[in-house]
Amino acid sequence: MIGIFDSGLGGLTALKELRSLLRDEDIVYFGDTGRVPYGTRSRETIIKYAREDMRFLMTHSVDAVLVACGTVSSTALDIISAEFDVPIFGVIDSAAKAALRATKNGRIGVIGTNATIGSGAFERSIRSHAKNYSDGKREPEIYSVACPLFVPLVEGGFITPGDEITLAAARRYLSPLAASGIDTLILGCTHYPIISWAISAALPGITLISSGRAAADDLAARITSGEIKTKNPEGGSVHCYVSDKTEDFEAIASIFMGGERIDSVSKIDIEKY
Ligand code: DGL
Repeated sequence: MIGIFDSGLGGLTALKELRSLLRDEDIVYFGDTGRVPYGTRSRETIIKYAREDMRFLMTHSVDAVLVACGTVSSTALDIISAEFDVPIFGVIDSAAKAALRATKNGRIGVIGTNATIGSGAFERSIRSHAKNYSDGKREPEIYSVACPLFVPLVEGGFITPGDEITLAAARRYLSPLAASGIDTLILGCTHYPIISWAISAALPGITLISSGRAAADDLAARITSGEIKTKNPEGGSVHCYVSDKTEDFEAIASIFMGGERIDSVSKIDIEKY
C-alpha cells in the first residue's frame, strides 16, 4: 500500500501517474481540502499539517509515502522523514533531475507556492545535481517565480481550457519568465499541471516538468526494482480521503483522472490525527 498526500487535488497528478505505472498497487490518497492552501502558511503550520497528514496515512499501514506537495516537500520533508518509520519521498529532487535532463540551454524556470519558492529548495537541488547531467551543458541559470493564485484557481474549478481568469493569472505571473530565455519550466506545485494549458499559453514552446509526475516515476521505478517493498497488493484499489466535503473533490478528480478508477472518496477529521 502506497500513501500519497497533498493539500488538496494537486497530488492527483502523482496518483494518476503512479496508478498507470503500478496497476496492482493499492493506493491511499489524502487531500487536505479543508485546509488548502498550504503554500501561503508559516513553516510551523506546514510542519504541523504534514505531521497530521502522515499520522493519518500511517493508520493504513502504508509501505511508502509520496509527499505529492511541493510545499511540504520543500519545507518539512526532513522533519517527517526523521519522525516516521516508513520511506518518504518528496517531489523536489525528481523534478530537478528531470529538468536537468530536459534542458538544452541550461536555463530552467521554477514556479511554485510562496513557501516553496521562498525555501529555495528547487534551486539547491538543481545546483547540487547539475554536474551529473551537465554533458557539456552550461551551469544552470535558474529563474523562480511564486504563483500563489494558481492553487485557489484549481481548487475552485477554474480549470477548463480557455478559462479567462486562469489565463489572465498565468500571463500576469509568467510574462517576466518569457524574457529570461528558459527552455524548461518546473511546475513545482503539483496543482499546476491541471492548468498546464494556461501555462503553455503564457510560455509557448517551453518544456513543462510536472513535479508530481516526476516523483511518481521515480517511486514506481524503486518499487519495480524491489528497492522499496510493498506487501500484498490487492488489485490496484484507490481510496481517497479529504478533510472537507467530498463532492467537489469527486467532480474535479473524475475530470482530472480521465476515467482512471477511484474506489471511494471519504471525509475525515484530520485534526484528530
Ligand atoms: N500541491 C501543493 C504544492 O505542490 C499546493 C500547496 C498549497 O496548498 O498551497 O505545493
